Amino acid sequence: MAKKTEENQRRAPPLNLQSMTEAIDAELDSNAPDPAYLARMAERRESLRAEVARLLPPRGHFVWEIGCGHGHFLTAYAETHPEEHCVGIDINLDRVRRATKKRDRAGLHRLHFVRAEARLFLEVLPPAAGFSAIYMLFPDPWPKKRHHKYRLLQAEFLHDIAQRAGQGTPLFFRTDHAPYFTEAEMLLRQHPDWRSVGDQPWPFELATVFQQKAPSFQSLVAVRR
Ligand SMILES: C[S@@+](CC[C@H](N)C(=O)[O-])C[C@H]1O[C@@H](n2cnc3c(N)ncnc32)[C@H](O)[C@@H]1O
Repeated sequence: MAKKTEENQRRAPPLNLQSMTEAIDAELDSNAPDPAYLARMAERRESLRAEVARLLPPRGHFVWEIGCGHGHFLTAYAETHPEEHCVGIDINLDRVRRATKKRDRAGLHRLHFVRAEARLFLEVLPPAAGFSAIYMLFPDPWPKKRHHKYRLLQAEFLHDIAQRAGQGTPLFFRTDHAPYFTEAEMLLRQHPDWRSVGDQPWPFELATVFQQKAPSFQSLVAVRR
């Protein structure tokens, strides 16, 4: 079994958003996806499920930051809201490690950083867990048209996160990429699960790494219907 796992790891492409989307596309096109990749995905799903179950209370709500980078925003948020459970996720392991060091230095026991792809994280959440607020700060804009399918904010993703959000749960979105902002605005205006409330003041602010570099940015808030 250990030998098989090693072989899978050697042959399979890296687990990232692009390779995952390509595997799903291949499945839809009826080209058999790489079995080694699928085996690695299944292993990853189960280890993530166990990690999340260990970190989070099985029921109750938490603040979720998607693509937390180095964890500046959520660490500062958790410092001022120590009673709340907070989880930041990112696919970049190095960023998650650095975020976790910040959290450990601050001694914030209800804050966790997890290396995870957003859709996989949703899949493995305990059935009774949900979001009290969702933050997406400077998500990758994938500017080329042929890469738009890799953008996280899509109608289906909005539907999936809405299943874990109670009525009134806010979604905070911010980007420095104007075309992505326009698309997000349109998606949220038309989406049956979310009501866009425009550019409202946010309950908490801290300039992230990407915000500090951005010459300008736009924000919007939507709430679960
Ligand atoms: C442009 S950076 C922004 C980081 C941070 N939010 C900031 O404002 O400084 C986007 C982050 O999202 C992460 N990311 C991209 N796609 C993701 C996905 N599908 N699931 C989880 N994290 C993702 C990247 O690894 C990266 O750290």
